[in-house]
This record gives sequence, structure tokens and C-alpha cells, in this order.
Amino acid sequence: MKKELIKITDLQHLTRTQVKENFRNYMNPGLHTYLGLLDFDKLYVRAQGVYAWDSEDNRYIDFLGGYGSLNLGHNHPRIIEALQQVSTMPNLIQASMNATASALAYNLAQITPGKLNNTFFCNSGAEAVEGAIKLARIATGRPRIVSCGSGFHGKTMGSLSVTGREKYQRGFEPMLPACSTVTFCRLDELEEQLRQKDVAAFIVEPIQGEGGIIVPYEGYLKEVQDLCRSYGTLLVADEIQTGLGRTGTMFASEHEGIEPDILCLAKSLGGGIMPIGAMITTQELWNKAYGGIEKCLLHTSTFGGNTWAAAAGIATLEVLAEEELPARAAELGEYLMNGLRALQQTYPIIRDVRGRGLLIGIEFEQPAKGMLGKVAGAVNKLSAEFLGAMVAGVLLNKHQIITAYTLNNPNVIRLEPALIVTKEQIDVVLNALNDTFEKNTSLLGFGLASGKTLLSSVFSKK
Ligand SMILES: Cc1ncc(COP(=O)(O)O)c(C=O)c1O
Repeated sequence: MKKELIKITDLQHLTRTQVKENFRNYMNPGLHTYLGLLDFDKLYVRAQGVYAWDSEDNRYIDFLGGYGSLNLGHNHPRIIEALQQVSTMPNLIQASMNATASALAYNLAQITPGKLNNTFFCNSGAEAVEGAIKLARIATGRPRIVSCGSGFHGKTMGSLSVTGREKYQRGFEPMLPACSTVTFCRLDELEEQLRQKDVAAFIVEPIQGEGGIIVPYEGYLKEVQDLCRSYGTLLVADEIQTGLGRTGTMFASEHEGIEPDILCLAKSLGGGIMPIGAMITTQELWNKAYGGIEKCLLHTSTFGGNTWAAAAGIATLEVLAEEELPARAAELGEYLMNGLRALQQTYPIIRDVRGRGLLIGIEFEQPAKGMLGKVAGAVNKLSAEFLGAMVAGVLLNKHQIITAYTLNNPNVIRLEPALIVTKEQIDVVLNALNDTFEKNTSLLGFGLASGKTLLSSVFSKK
């Protein structure tokens, strides 16, 4: 029997139990269980800046930052104001030219590196990558796309085909044909692929995010650019996570002065409120791909470039510039990194800390096999897949700090707070990490401390 619909006015009154039931019954039961095992199944009811509050009015510091989509923090008033300003304009009349979208495209052309000029707007990062793959193929007339083995570019069919994690691809084969991978930072492997002169594009993150926050050696991206140019392959910079100030400059490509042929953006472009993605390329490439009335509608999106999303994009660029957030990310990132390096000196469980600006990863030491005696099998199994999650569980439940592990490398937790974060908030997190590693020197400790039920669930499956 069909039940009564939930009204918008009911939202404020939904209990945590009701939300859990709806999520489990009508969304994703497996994720419901997983979040529950880690005690991650909070009901957040309010968020502002770097903070979020749960239904019991506990305050959390958000160091996950919406996987890079909250560079301005939660509910930045300037974004909300911008949405109010355009609220009487038509949001969607696709058979026309959208003033707000074309203004945002103009602005992006001013701030992106090199000759990047024409923008295709969509609604997510994966879609921006799809746009890049299609543009590269049609503009070059070549079939192949090369990406990095540990890269992450999204989970739609095309973007998944260039995402380097078998776990996400298995069961969805066949992937897009003519896609191959090389090792990040291995120029010889890349050249081997490009030599055949049939590669349309090489897609790369200037710093790998989900791969575990991997910063390439200095000079790598410049050499990649040179190689691509000499073999007629387009260079696609996926700045979906690194872009818009995150790494201490507006775009991570700027660190090495590269000028990609295509740049992908999404996440924070919507100011943490509106979904928006962008694929930006040069005028020359755009015209080759979609120039002329025959080809101008070959790649489109119903919602791409809608007024509300584009207005959020314009306001985001304004706030980034006015509050000098890229420079702030550089300064506070260094402060956080120094604090983390000091912790690394003290706690051997921290294998590495790395990153740039406010995109920082902490990698944990895996235990030697058999080190933990009787429970070694289960704990090793746990740690391989869930150690980052376990540390994140302790941080959340003992210290009210929101973090998460990186998708392609669960042994790494990421710290990527809003760029408006303060030194005081960073100190709170550093102290919490210190306390966490002081109290939980072994993996077993983390397993027990992170989730009430996580360890027992692993044992019961054996
Ligand atoms: C570098 C990179 N590219 C693409 C994506 C996919 O973006 P979306 O989740 O919006 O599809 C992500 C998401 O984490 C990302 O980090």
C-alpha cells in the first residue's frame, strides 16, 4: 500500500531513525550498513563555514570539505545571495543563449591557463571528463585515450574507463574501447603509448586525489606536456579536485606553468551549493570539434549552464579572489603540513604525509604479516581495506572531526578543509590526531576504537 508523501515542511522534523529507514529502504542499504559499522550514520541538520551540527546539536569540524567541493565552506552567504539575485531570471530556456552561463564562461577564459577559452557546462565531474574524452576524439580524429593506473576521473562509463581502480570497473565490463593506462610519473611508459600517434588525449590529475594525494616530482607535468605536443596528443588536466585554489594557486597546473589543451572543473565551482561541471578548451579545438551549425549540438546537457548553477560559479570566483583563498590555502596548508610532519616524527604508524596547499593525505603503515598474533588475519584484512576508515571513525566519534579515506587508496586519509579554515581549527585537528595516535598505537586499537561493530562484523564473516 502506498504511503503519504513527505512534505518539505516535514524535513525539519524527521528523526535520525526515520532518515536511516528511508535511506536503507529507498536508497542504498549496503551503504547504510557500512556507515553504521563505522558510526558514520549521523544526522547532520545544520552547517556553516567549516562546521556542521548533528541532530543532538553536537558540533563537528569538517575536514573532508565535501571531497573538494566545499572550498568556500558550507552555505557561504555570498553564494546564497547570488542565487537570490538570479531567482527571477529564467533558469532554463535552452533554445536561447544563457546570459549567466556565458558570463561565467567569459570569466573562466580570463583565469584559466594559456589559451583555454570555450566552455561546455555540465553537472558533475564525471560529465566534464566525458566531455573531454568526446572532444578529444572528434577534434583529433584519433581513437585512443591514455590515463594513469591510479588516477580517478569518475564513475560514469567513459570516466570509469579512464579511472584506474579495478574494483570500480569489475562487473561493468566492457569498458570504453581504446583506453589504456600508464604509471603516474613514468614518462617512458607514456611515450611508448604516444609513439603510435593514435592517442587523442592523455588525461591526468596534476596531483592525484583519490589515488592517495600523490604529488608528482617537479618537472613531470611539463615533460608530459612536451611529450603530448610532440606526438599530437591533447593534454587533459583533470582539476576537478585540485582546482579553484585548493592547492595554493587557482589551478594546480600553475605550479609547473603547464597549459593544458582541455581542463576539467566541477566540485567547488558550484560554491558548495549548486552542482556544476565545466570542460574548457581552446577556441581552435572547440571549432574543430563543434564549430559550425552542423556540429554545434553534438554534445549537450539539459541542465548544463543553468542560471542558478552558473550564478553560483560566478560568485565562487568572486569570493576566491576577494578573500584571496588560493594564497590562504598555501599558507595554512604549510602550517597543517608542518604539524603533521611533527606527528610523523613521533608516531611510526604514520608512514607519510604529503600534499600541497590544503589537499593533504596521511598514509598509514600496514602491519607486518602475523604481527598481531591470533587476530592477524582479520585485522590485516581490515587494515588493507579499511584502515583509513578506522582512523576516520576515531576522529569522528571521539573528536567530532569529519574526514574520509581516499577512494583508490583506503590506507590514506585526506584532509581537505574549506579554504576559509583558521589556524585554531587546524590546531584542534592536530591535537585530536596526536591524541588518537597516542591512544591507539596498533591497528587492533583502531579497529576497536573506530566502530563498535566493525571488528566483530569481520570476525563473524570468517
Ligand atoms: C579528480 C576527479 N575527477 C573526477 C571526479 C568525479 O567527479 P564527480 O563525482 O562529480 O562525478 C572526481 C571526484 O572525486 C575527482 O576527484
